[in-house]
Amino acid sequence: MLSKLQHTDPTTTESHVPVMVHEIIQHLNLKNDGYYIDATFGRGGHTKAILQHLGTDGRVLALDRDPDAIAAGYKLAQTDLRFNLIHAEFSQLQTVVKQYNWMGKIKGIIFDLGVSSPQLDTSKRGFSFIQDGPLDMRMNPQNTTITAASWLAQASSQEITQVLRQFGEERYAKRIAQAIVNIRHQQPIQTTGQLASIIKAANPAWEWDKHPATRSFQAIRIHINQELEELKLGLEAALDILSIGGRLLVLSFHSLEDRIVKRFFRNKTRGDNLPRNIPIQAAAPQLQLPVSLLRPSMTEIKMNPRSRSAILRVAEKNL
Ligand SMILES: C[S@@+](CC[C@H](N)C(=O)[O-])C[C@H]1O[C@@H](n2cnc3c(N)ncnc32)[C@H](O)[C@@H]1O
Repeated sequence: MLSKLQHTDPTTTESHVPVMVHEIIQHLNLKNDGYYIDATFGRGGHTKAILQHLGTDGRVLALDRDPDAIAAGYKLAQTDLRFNLIHAEFSQLQTVVKQYNWMGKIKGIIFDLGVSSPQLDTSKRGFSFIQDGPLDMRMNPQNTTITAASWLAQASSQEITQVLRQFGEERYAKRIAQAIVNIRHQQPIQTTGQLASIIKAANPAWEWDKHPATRSFQAIRIHINQELEELKLGLEAALDILSIGGRLLVLSFHSLEDRIVKRFFRNKTRGDNLPRNIPIQAAAPQLQLPVSLLRPSMTEIKMNPRSRSAILRVAEKNL
């Protein structure tokens, strides 16, 4: 689970264009000899930018739950001794940091949420409604046993509706879930192409800027990978392991993720709100917000349309 690099280079060579690199470097407040965590290595865009700003005593520890991401970072970890890459999930962040004896030393952590371009573009990973592939959607096939296909084969219509509503904010969740259940009685749904066509036919409202299966695919992916639970655990762990004055940066790409980050930051910037007549010293806020939210520039959005929905939030640890 917390294994270090054991993989050879992956067969996929696609790259990921990192989002808001300039803003992230600026707000991480990098110190030459600081220790930093990239919780979402992907293809290493943010890690490489951080390393470029560090001196010989600076360090970066990166995680990713996807074995392909770990394989893609193998060479960098071999050649840059300031860098370590670990196959682990957000929920294991504290364990990893303890193993490395980094508790209390960390000056900054970046989470760049969601899926990477290679995950989306590699049809065999089963995330894409554009390219046909096996209906998989697991970011970490070594840890997650249930694929999207196996879940859709056994979940009730109510369960599917609930997931599409909650994680996709899909208005036609019930209709789509019913269509899935009807079709699976005739033939198993095993490919992304099959699922995309079923959703397309069942969804009466096509948004001009979105494929009709966008929301449902997002919802099923979030469910299969327990993404929101992982995010909550990751944020709590990040706050515990950061040093005082350290920065926590989170880049999110849809409102469900951003809402969790916004609430977490808000709660931790409030401190205790005790009634005046209680003779207890109220705890001071654990975080402060040096900036309100940041968005990518128009130039970046033009160059990299996948950045258009990005929201970057920045917090600093007080105590
Ligand atoms: C948007 S990509 C990161 C891209 C990266 N910043 C870059 O510049 O290449 C998100 C990455 O986070 C990973 N990820 C998502 N949820 C995770 C979790 N709970 N634990 C560890 N990694 C996770 C995904 O596997 C994916 O590789």
